[in-house]
Amino acid sequence: MTFEQIQETADYIKSKVAALPSYGVILGSGLGGLTEAVNIQSELSYNTIPNFPQSTVEGHAGKLIFGTIGDKQVVMMAGRFHYYEGYNMQEVTFPVRVMKALGVETLFVSNAAGGMNRDFKIGDIMFIKDHINLFPEHPLRGKNDTRLGTRFPDMSEPYSYEMIAKAKVLAAEAGIEVKEGVYIGLQGPTFETRAEYKWLDVIGGDAVGMSTVPEVIVAIHGGMKVFAASIITDLGIREELNTITHEEVLEAANIAAPKLAKIVSELIKSL
Ligand code: HPA
Repeated sequence: MTFEQIQETADYIKSKVAALPSYGVILGSGLGGLTEAVNIQSELSYNTIPNFPQSTVEGHAGKLIFGTIGDKQVVMMAGRFHYYEGYNMQEVTFPVRVMKALGVETLFVSNAAGGMNRDFKIGDIMFIKDHINLFPEHPLRGKNDTRLGTRFPDMSEPYSYEMIAKAKVLAAEAGIEVKEGVYIGLQGPTFETRAEYKWLDVIGGDAVGMSTVPEVIVAIHGGMKVFAASIITDLGIREELNTITHEEVLEAANIAAPKLAKIVSELIKSL
């Protein structure tokens, strides 16, 4: 995806919406409830937006939702693009480039993840404080366009410590328990083997999932501030006979989602 394509897409969106967003949200699986916190002004289906990747899931075209949370202008991605679906990294991260071109300076990302940390329970919310990138392809590989960002981005604080600190205070005020940890992103679509979960634990991960890392890398490349959180939907370090299904992941995500929605919407209001 080129700078010109990003501009073209942003220009189209600008011609369709009443107000431009400063805050972007990428909604992970089961976390659609966040949309209830938004005062919706307009929606654009992905299949009407030039250059936008098209959703592979039938009946779920995906859409951008524009509106306000408190007095903050936001854009939300309902439906994200996963690498395991066959999109390349340019496609997976294109919406983040477009958000930046629209004026988004702060990005919020949520996902469902498997927990390695033994202190975690199913349904826990984990604020991501750092990540380990195990995707097989890097979203910034290739010629660098300096209009989008620097060749070698610093990754010493991809997840804003300041926003994590604020979110912790807001969660405590709302009586919501939260954890903090390192997210490992890998391609999927298989869930991990028992041996892989053990390895992910040993190398320093607290949770593992199949998204988020590419989008966050591109957000940092573009100079955005990022806040991200995982809902722990299953425990990787398992009892011997324990298995996992996508349905269980969604069910656990749905149960914890309102709590995360509350934290993120309060955080956006407080900024
Ligand atoms: N592994 C990878 N991705 C996931 C998991 C998991 O255990 N749970 C939810 N998404």
